[in-house]
Amino acid sequence: MRYITTPIYYVNDAPHIGHAYTTIIADTLARLYRLQGKKTLFLTGTDEHGQKIEQAASSRNFTPKEYADKISKEFKELWDEFNISYDIYARTTDERHIKTVQAMFLRMFEKGDIYKGEYEGYYCVSCETFFTKTQLKENECCADCGKKTSIVKEESYFFRLSKYQDKILKWYEQQEPILPKNKTNELINFVKEGLKDLSITRTSFDWGIKIPKEIKDEKHIIYVWLDALFIYVSSIDYLDKKENSVFWPAYMHLVGKDILKFHAIFWPAFLMSASLELPRYVAAHGWWTRDGEKMSKSKGNVIKPKEVVDAYGLDPFRYFLLREVPFGNDGDFSETVFINRNNAELCNELGNLLNRISGMAAKYSQNVLKSDNVKDFFSKEILESKNFIDNALHFSKTVQFSKFLEELFKALAIANLSITKYEPWNLVKNGNLKKANALISLCANILAKVAMLLSAVMPDSMTRLSNSLNFKINNENYKKLIEKDELFDFEISVCDNLFKKIETPLLNSQKSEEKKDEDTKIKIDDFSKLKIKIATVLDCENIEGSEKLLKFKLDLGGNDIRQVLSGIAKFYNAKDLIGKQVCVLSNLKKAKIFGYESDGMILSVKSEDKLVLLSPNDLVLNGSLVG
Ligand code: ME8
Ligand code: MG
Repeated sequence: MRYITTPIYYVNDAPHIGHAYTTIIADTLARLYRLQGKKTLFLTGTDEHGQKIEQAASSRNFTPKEYADKISKEFKELWDEFNISYDIYARTTDERHIKTVQAMFLRMFEKGDIYKGEYEGYYCVSCETFFTKTQLKENECCADCGKKTSIVKEESYFFRLSKYQDKILKWYEQQEPILPKNKTNELINFVKEGLKDLSITRTSFDWGIKIPKEIKDEKHIIYVWLDALFIYVSSIDYLDKKENSVFWPAYMHLVGKDILKFHAIFWPAFLMSASLELPRYVAAHGWWTRDGEKMSKSKGNVIKPKEVVDAYGLDPFRYFLLREVPFGNDGDFSETVFINRNNAELCNELGNLLNRISGMAAKYSQNVLKSDNVKDFFSKEILESKNFIDNALHFSKTVQFSKFLEELFKALAIANLSITKYEPWNLVKNGNLKKANALISLCANILAKVAMLLSAVMPDSMTRLSNSLNFKINNENYKKLIEKDELFDFEISVCDNLFKKIETPLLNSQKSEEKKDEDTKIKIDDFSKLKIKIATVLDCENIEGSEKLLKFKLDLGGNDIRQVLSGIAKFYNAKDLIGKQVCVLSNLKKAKIFGYESDGMILSVKSEDKLVLLSPNDLVLNGSLVG
């Protein structure tokens, strides 16, 4: 029995290529297991509670639930469009999840693993992670994402993570659960440095699951990571022992390296505390960049999976993601490399082999291929291709799909090279029709075996291919072709354009520039947050020791007199400005500049190497709003 999971994705933002990557790996595994006749359950879904979602929703004028509904639907629609074969689409706002989390929390509490205290430290909302000062980068920025953290000081319940330190280390040692294996060392080092007890409730906001009512402390909501991780258990109705509950323990949690720690340290500890078995594997892949750069919204270089699929099709996208990067390594999305792989590997190696087979079968054997004589002529080729296929299967066990595909393409190369080497057209010319037909049948059999396994990666194209050779991709034929290494007879029908050559890049940057503009546009409400007021300069003087700064005393009307500093000393004489009207951003947070308080910002415009102050075109009342 194999239960495999993707992370449940945060609903703060639209799906991106990294989400598609994890989900497509999981989908490929699920398809492969089903083909192999294993009972398989595949979960994906969304993570919807916590501060990050609350903030994302409120900045867009949604309630958290409305926003979660909207984005969760977007993820689901994308996976449906991509034909992702998930069995469960789980959401942390589902009632059964909420109940399970509370029940698990209570179990852990009753076991004595949860106690009340006060948390004081740093928190990164973007990573939903607690940090101590020593774990942070300069300026109190998060060690993981680099964003600014905030200081949190609040009453909190704690989980005795420290108690599980040795048990976690033992798990690594005895089960070898981490894939790729070489990621285990980092984890061991981290655990050995000492695990601190973990804050697992918050009180300063309320978008989350309340701690169980039995504890009678309603203001506490459960830390979003404890909430989210238990989705793997709640979604198979573990507590109610319904049908899917037999799938526990999970066979494999697929994650990105960013969240390995949560899955390989916190999660096993929570599970042990709640008396549940531990997952068999936690498999962590690397990070995608685009043309060597980190993807981010501000750079406008985020790859939207749908854009690539709309341009080039789903199967080439799936193939590229899995083939390009060894599992666990970071990877780069380059359109040029994508196109090269599509053209050289999918079109020339794979698609073309089918064309050659169907062309020759039509010409020499009325589209019928019998395998009776294949072993007499080509036993060496059969053996070699079988070795590559066995290697591929071996690599699939540890999610190394890049190697898996590489080996399968080596098997295809044997077919392609045999055609070049034995030249069936010459065999026919020289009257050796038997050998020619055996050769074509050899190629068709290699292609069929490879297509059987490739169908997990490229389901649609391989179904078309198998239709063209006239066999079905299913468990029965998997056993025959792959496990028993049988040879099939085929009846060929033509299949046009299994893959299309890509002549010109379609994801041009022009398009993404326009999109970028669109993304950075704001609503009128955003503008009206800026309180820009007209003020008269009551006094203005230079600041000793600064070449740039002028210190202003401004009258913003209605007795609002303020001190504001502005870096325009190089362009104006202080005394000339007294009596002038200027525009001031009045609701800016106060700042200390050069030791002086500055309460607002005088607006100016930079034109070439000059700075020019903005003023109303006519005299107006001080305090008038610009809008
Ligand atoms: O972490 N490269 O959700 P999330 C590769 N809700 N993979 C990437 C990627 C990139 N550039 N960007 C994202 C969360 N991913 C939690 C999970 S699970 C109980 C809770 C993928 O929306 C990768 O799988 O931030 C990563 O682990 C995941 O998206 C993070 O998704
Ligand atoms: Mg993330």
